[in-house]
Amino acid sequence: MANTIRSLQRLKQTGKPIVALTAWEYSTAQVLDRSGVDLLLVGDSLAMVALGYSTTLPVSVEELLFACQAVRRGVTQALLVADLPFGSYEQSPEQAFATASRFIKEAGAQAVKLEGGYPRMVKTVNFLVESGIPVLGHVGLTPQSVHQFGGFRVQGKTTAEAERILYEAQALELAGAFAIVLEHIPSALAADISRSLSIPTIGIGAGPNCDGQILVTHDLLGLSESPPPFAKPYLDLRSAIAQAVEQFSADVREGK
Ligand code: KIV
Repeated sequence: MANTIRSLQRLKQTGKPIVALTAWEYSTAQVLDRSGVDLLLVGDSLAMVALGYSTTLPVSVEELLFACQAVRRGVTQALLVADLPFGSYEQSPEQAFATASRFIKEAGAQAVKLEGGYPRMVKTVNFLVESGIPVLGHVGLTPQSVHQFGGFRVQGKTTAEAERILYEAQALELAGAFAIVLEHIPSALAADISRSLSIPTIGIGAGPNCDGQILVTHDLLGLSESPPPFAKPYLDLRSAIAQAVEQFSADVREGK
């Protein structure tokens, strides 16, 4: 059965963790989908990992739409969520709707993700949800605010920061978000937030006590040049590719 926002919420109710990964193109999306991943995110991490930028900020709506259209063609089971890129939604709920509806209409996304919580984004999330667009929230280390944070650093270490992040997550739930990504926050804070919400939390670098986990697929496969310290590689694809290319090169040069 294909995943929906309701089926993911039922996983939390039955104590089963949500498995989520990123995807940016057709073939990988197809493999991930057939491997039983519950949620696939066309994440703006594409900017750094696939396009080589130093932050997620430069990626455009058109670039993410292009990626999402390719992923859509490879996915039948996972819930497909598209990231709203920096600059495409922050100005107003109306701007967010204009961008989000393009991902739904032109690229077949079933939900969108946007960064930030109370108070500004809460209004926007509510506007999108009331317009029929499911929203995945994202709090903690929100990479689009990298310059505001002064780097990609763990968030929520002080009591004040932890209280703010908890409050943001609660406000996003009230606004109608169907789930929330918790990125790079202390494990104990992620556990507190997960306990206090009835919607699922999906952690990345937030410890094991979330209702699900998401990783950038290139990090999982060992293909990223500089993965974050919390991302556990399950394969060394960089070495495997290098080996295959060396083998191919040798065959070609030996005329085989
Ligand atoms: O862009 C992305 O890939 C993300 C996930 C890491 C949560 O936002």
